[in-house]
Amino acid sequence: MESLYATIMKTFEGYAIGKMLRFLSVPDIISFAGGLPSSDVFPLDIVRKATETSLKEDWMHVLQYTPIPGEESLMTAIRNYLKKDNIHIEPENIMITTSGQHGLDLVGRLFLDPQDAIVIDLPTFGGALAAFELENAQYVAKDIREDGTDVKGLEAEIEDYTNKKGKKPKFIYVVPDFQNPSGITTSLEKRLALLELGKKLGIPVVEDSPYRELRYRGKHLPSIYSLDKNQGHVIGLYTFSKILCPGIRVGFNIGPPEVIQKFSFIKGANILNTPKLNQNICRTFLEEYDLDTHFQNTRKYYSEKLNFFLEAMEENFPEDMGVKWTKPEGGLFLWITVPEEINTLDLFYMAIEEKVAFVPGEVFYPEGHKKYNSMRINFSFPTKEEIVEGVKRLSSVIKKYKPKRKT
Ligand SMILES: Cc1ncc(COP(=O)(O)O)c(C=O)c1O
Repeated sequence: MESLYATIMKTFEGYAIGKMLRFLSVPDIISFAGGLPSSDVFPLDIVRKATETSLKEDWMHVLQYTPIPGEESLMTAIRNYLKKDNIHIEPENIMITTSGQHGLDLVGRLFLDPQDAIVIDLPTFGGALAAFELENAQYVAKDIREDGTDVKGLEAEIEDYTNKKGKKPKFIYVVPDFQNPSGITTSLEKRLALLELGKKLGIPVVEDSPYRELRYRGKHLPSIYSLDKNQGHVIGLYTFSKILCPGIRVGFNIGPPEVIQKFSFIKGANILNTPKLNQNICRTFLEEYDLDTHFQNTRKYYSEKLNFFLEAMEENFPEDMGVKWTKPEGGLFLWITVPEEINTLDLFYMAIEEKVAFVPGEVFYPEGHKKYNSMRINFSFPTKEEIVEGVKRLSSVIKKYKPKRKT
């Protein structure tokens, strides 16, 4: 059968984290590996109410095929919701997706021919790499800095790439707010610089924003989309996964009308429509729920866990271990860098034996750009007790590590 597969499928192995997660079924393991929001903050009451109302009053439509771009009522609710973030868009600027991963898939399918390049931070979201690798993408990439994307460095890399290949990259992909995986936030200056760079090159900035509402400290920064004032240079990707719950699988892409129309052509061919029941839940959440209180509670809950994690790191990682970690202002992840002689994939297998798990950083780097001495930590899902114990175990595993191989 294999000889019949499309060329890309002969090597494509999906989202690299998937392969790691099968190790996590060990009993009593403390996992910092998943990307899971905590079910403690899922607004079950509004989900239940919206479901009951929909099935009682709207069941004929809810159980039917529905429009490909999404429910008008949800799109209106989203447009109103975005106004408080200073994003003012028209109906033709938005399409409902079946979550953030679907939004990424649409971007890859729309822009990429095999071997086309895109511009990314190193590390970057592994799910985005998986979506773009399915289109056989290449990367123009630079290490992310403490204040976000290395815009100047990327500009030089892009020039180099364009001179060598005779074509420019297709888009710039960034997660400016509390990036998955590093937890780093891109500064206002760099957001403006990214927008200018996109404009200068005539390529869009794809701004992926699942964590925007989850800021625990520091100053609110405008999205790149809002800085562009809906002038068509930015494509915004959003999802309800981290603000409501991931099981609903609803998100939305915003951008210039011609791009949105193409997204809906692709959606018609790949998944057709997003379940109306789930869209009704999201609309009710936006219009009828006390969002301020919900977000305040959610932020409080996660920020306590983050502080707990950071304290545990201070206690268990004395300076002479040479371990560094980011201190995010929001989101669900932080990034640990260990001395270069430590390969975190090897360390991962040792850690599983000691019943603690993380994601080896290499899955957030595309082929040809890999680094092997980092790890992603999810602090939102484990309990406080698990955080304390898990960080202790992590420290002990790193102390025991003996380099096995050169990478
Ligand atoms: C940066 C980023 N984009 C997109 C997604 C995908 O979101 P969804 O779960 O809605 O598919 C995630 C999920 O973790 C993410 O971190």
